[in-house]
Order: sequence, then structure tokens, then C-alpha cells
Amino acid sequence: MTVVLNPFSRHQEWLKHVSEELPGENVVLWPDVDDPSDVQFLVAWLMRRSDLATFTNLEAILSLGAGTEQWQKDGTPDVPVVRLADPEMASEMAAYALYWVLHFQREFSKTPGQQANKVFQQPPYTQTAQFPVGILGYGTIGARVGQAFADLGYPINAWSRSGGDSESVTHYQGLAQLDDFLANSMAAVNVLPSTEATTGLLDAKRFAALPAGSVFVNMGRGTVLDNEALMEALDSGPLRAAVLDVTSPEPLPEDSPLWSHPNLHLTPHIAGATQVSSASKLVAANIRRMLSGEEPFPLLDRSRGY
Ligand code: GLV
Repeated sequence: MTVVLNPFSRHQEWLKHVSEELPGENVVLWPDVDDPSDVQFLVAWLMRRSDLATFTNLEAILSLGAGTEQWQKDGTPDVPVVRLADPEMASEMAAYALYWVLHFQREFSKTPGQQANKVFQQPPYTQTAQFPVGILGYGTIGARVGQAFADLGYPINAWSRSGGDSESVTHYQGLAQLDDFLANSMAAVNVLPSTEATTGLLDAKRFAALPAGSVFVNMGRGTVLDNEALMEALDSGPLRAAVLDVTSPEPLPEDSPLWSHPNLHLTPHIAGATQVSSASKLVAANIRRMLSGEEPFPLLDRSRGY
């Protein structure tokens, strides 16, 4: 059996870690494959459809990213796709969200200007207890983000399809409760994946539901929002600032007005990099499970789109 690796970067590091986790197995980097029909498991971020088609005995795809939209496009073999749900990646994303929410809640953007002008003046202060953080999408990543803020005393709102019942979090469920969720969140942090159900979810009406002076952080997928509606919400609506780590399209075209909006901060899809050492362990554990006839997890559910 052969395990083929096609990571986004750090190829040799991946090879070393996955090989060490699967002693005795044939682990190779794409395209160093002698016979594609020997390939049993593909561990990859992306793969050309024409290359995928050569793996005629493929048993499973193990995704190297949290998002799985790349494995739902036409031409993907009809084999189980194992999602990457890595707590270490989730912690990275929690740190990213904390950084930006603190930036605005604590007015850290104001102090560099003051220093330049030798001004010593405390900016307005909003108490943590009065700055509820709302998280759109409450799976492995969303719950980790929520925990990071909850540990510091922020009230937490969570919006998801299926709701939840943890006592320390105010859960909102489904489209009917989305406006309420938004209206009660001073920071809205999106970690939703790109699916049919989430495409265009945040439109002008939804952004208008946010409280005045709120901030929006997107580290899920750019397809979740309408870019024009976001600009409108920044220019004349309730948003004071937005941070986009992901956009649609990505990267943005050169003439996109989002590049130059003064209250919009863009980062190049860096909120949560896949962590080689932890992800290798998760991937290898799932391969071992499959080799001994057990179900890997978590599996992509194609009917729900994630
Ligand atoms: C990054 O966006 C990922 O899906 O892991």
C-alpha cells in the first residue's frame, strides 16, 4: 500500500513526520509514485483532477486543511474524505481572533498616533463584560475560539445550524435566530465553511442587524459574505471595522475597493496554518484506523457540504 502526500508547503517536513508515524508503510511525496494504482491513501491540500483519476484503487482522501470545498468539486473520486479537525490549528485561529478583537475593543489602534505626537491620553475603554463576542460556526474551531474569549471574561454567543446547550455560551440556532445573534454581538467572528447554505449568508440585511460600533472578523471563507454589503456596513452602517483573512475571490483582484478601505484590514489567509506535527499524528491515526477496518473521523458529509 502507498500513502501519497501532496501538502501545500514544507514537503520534506511532512514526509518525515508522516513516515515516522506510519513505520513500515510506503509513504511518498507526490509525484514520486511508481504505480498510481498502488495508491491507497491520499494526504493532500489540493490535487489536479487528472492526477486524482490515476489513483484507480484509492480508498480515502485525508484533507490537509480544515476546509473541504476542494474535495467536493467535480472529478473527485467517490471515496471517504477525512476532514482535518486539529485542536492546534483551532488554537492558532483563536489567537488570531483574540488579537483583532482586542485591537478594536481596547482601542490599540489609537496609541501609535499618540506616541508620534507625544500625547499621553487614555483612549475610551469598553469593559470586557460589555463586549460580547459572537462566533458563526461552532465546531472544533468555533468552540476553541469561544473558549479563548470566555476564559478572559467575554460573554460568548454561538450561532450554528444545530444549536447547543453549554451553560456558559448563549446559543442561537438556524436562520431564524441569526439576526438576534448578530444584534447581540459587538464582535462577529466567522469560522463558517463555504457551503451552499453559507454562500451569501451575510448580506446587507444581516450586516445591518449588528450593533453600532461592532467589528467583523472573517477567518472562515470569503463566500459567506457579500463584499458590497460589507463595504456599505463599514461606510454607512453599524460596522466600525472589519478584518478579512479570507476573501472571495481570493486573492482579491487588483481593482477591488476592499484593498484600500481605511477600516478594513486584510491578511493573506494566515489565521490558522496547518501544523505539521499535530496534523501528521491525526492523519496517521486515521490511516491506522482504516487499515484495521475502523471508521476514520471526522468524515466529510457531502450532503451537508462540510
Ligand atoms: C484553511 O483555510 C483550511 O481550510 O485549513
